[in-house]
Amino acid sequence: MDSFIIRGPCRLSGSVRISGAKNAMLPLMAATILTGGRCTLRNVPRLRDTRTMMKLLDVLGVPSSLEEGTLDVDASSVGSFEAPYDIVRTMRASIYALGPLVARFGRARVSMPGGCAWGPRPVDLHLKGLKALGARIRIDHGYIDASAERLRGGQIVLSVPSVGATVNIMLAAVLARGESVIENAAREPEISALAGALRGAGAAIEGEGTSTISIQGVESIAPFDVAVIPDRIEAGTFAAAAAITGGDVELTGCSPEHMHAVIDVLSACGASVEQGPGTLRVRGPGRIAALDVDTGFYPAFPTDMQAQIMALLCIADGASTIVEHVYPDRFTHVPELRRFGARITLDGSVAVVAGVERLEGAPVMATDIRASSALLLAGLVADGETKVLRIYHIERGYEGIEEKLGALGADIRRVPE
Ligand code: UD1
Repeated sequence: MDSFIIRGPCRLSGSVRISGAKNAMLPLMAATILTGGRCTLRNVPRLRDTRTMMKLLDVLGVPSSLEEGTLDVDASSVGSFEAPYDIVRTMRASIYALGPLVARFGRARVSMPGGCAWGPRPVDLHLKGLKALGARIRIDHGYIDASAERLRGGQIVLSVPSVGATVNIMLAAVLARGESVIENAAREPEISALAGALRGAGAAIEGEGTSTISIQGVESIAPFDVAVIPDRIEAGTFAAAAAITGGDVELTGCSPEHMHAVIDVLSACGASVEQGPGTLRVRGPGRIAALDVDTGFYPAFPTDMQAQIMALLCIADGASTIVEHVYPDRFTHVPELRRFGARITLDGSVAVVAGVERLEGAPVMATDIRASSALLLAGLVADGETKVLRIYHIERGYEGIEEKLGALGADIRRVPE
């Protein structure tokens, strides 16, 4: 297990290219199971989660290869219908295999995903949705067993606009007989990207990007060749890195149109944010302004940026409040940020951050993908040495982060633990 050593403070400057979005790529990789042919995904980030999903496809009998950002997936045949515990426990999105397997082959067995470092993460809505499409679901020895002759269209009202449940239900409904309607569907850009790819492959889907998605089932989904949309969370993280270091960074290959809430918050912090087509230029303020942030479902401020914005607010001029509405317990970064000298109090899902003038380098532990990137941000601006342990979490979601930060002027290196 490697660690990162960062020497701060630094001021980032230069240009960084944003990679393809992990959370858009994973549904597309699962969607290849629907096609029975060879699919190509472009702009694929080289991440630990990419390799995990490739491994899962491989276990299902679907080989794939990744070269220079192009992933070729040969889904001409599927030889197994089981996503085993060993894979699912390292990546919850493995549950995306459930919908397409049961839709195309009438059977699937997927290990039940567990909780997360920051609390329980249920999959009840995925299962409720598949049941509404006629799947029989049984939970046995920690596995979800799903079966059906052929799925049929159904009406699904999600109690929460879950991204994962919306993906899984879409991946099943495209091959069901008749019409399905998902109410209170997730509206994230990654959902729209999946809908667009499936439509290009023959699916009949309408309404993505709104709360009501209608799907008319078709007989088959053709192999597809699509590019993965830019990662708005990676982009937001680099934008926050520019802001926290008082730097001047241009992000290229990104989608500012997916980042309104993040751009608004960074601007309210005092950063200057200029948007161009596929680019953002972020210049940090002399001192970060304190502010109140509420996370929420898209288009609100993303929970996946909550930890990074908290790192920023740790050195704000005054007190800020962050309310986490999506995952009320998602605060494992708080005790770690305190090691830098940050002053944060927690009361349920509300964090109050009293800004301090300076942070000091510290040994800290990464606990999940985004919490880890917040520790990197704090390390960039803290005085002295920061050691971030357990960086495999970062590698799940950030492609080449040390090279990218290094090229912007950060003093960061990887050391074996
Ligand atoms: C996805 C993202 C993750 C992000 C999250 C919220 C992927 C691979 N991951 O996760 O990075 O943090 O969206 O934006 O895209 N819920 C239920 N029952 C369910 C499913 C979800 O109650 O069956 C609840 C969750 O507890 C949570 C909320 O719905 O409070 C949102 O979760 P969801 O959108 O499903 O998150 P994921 O798809 O797991």
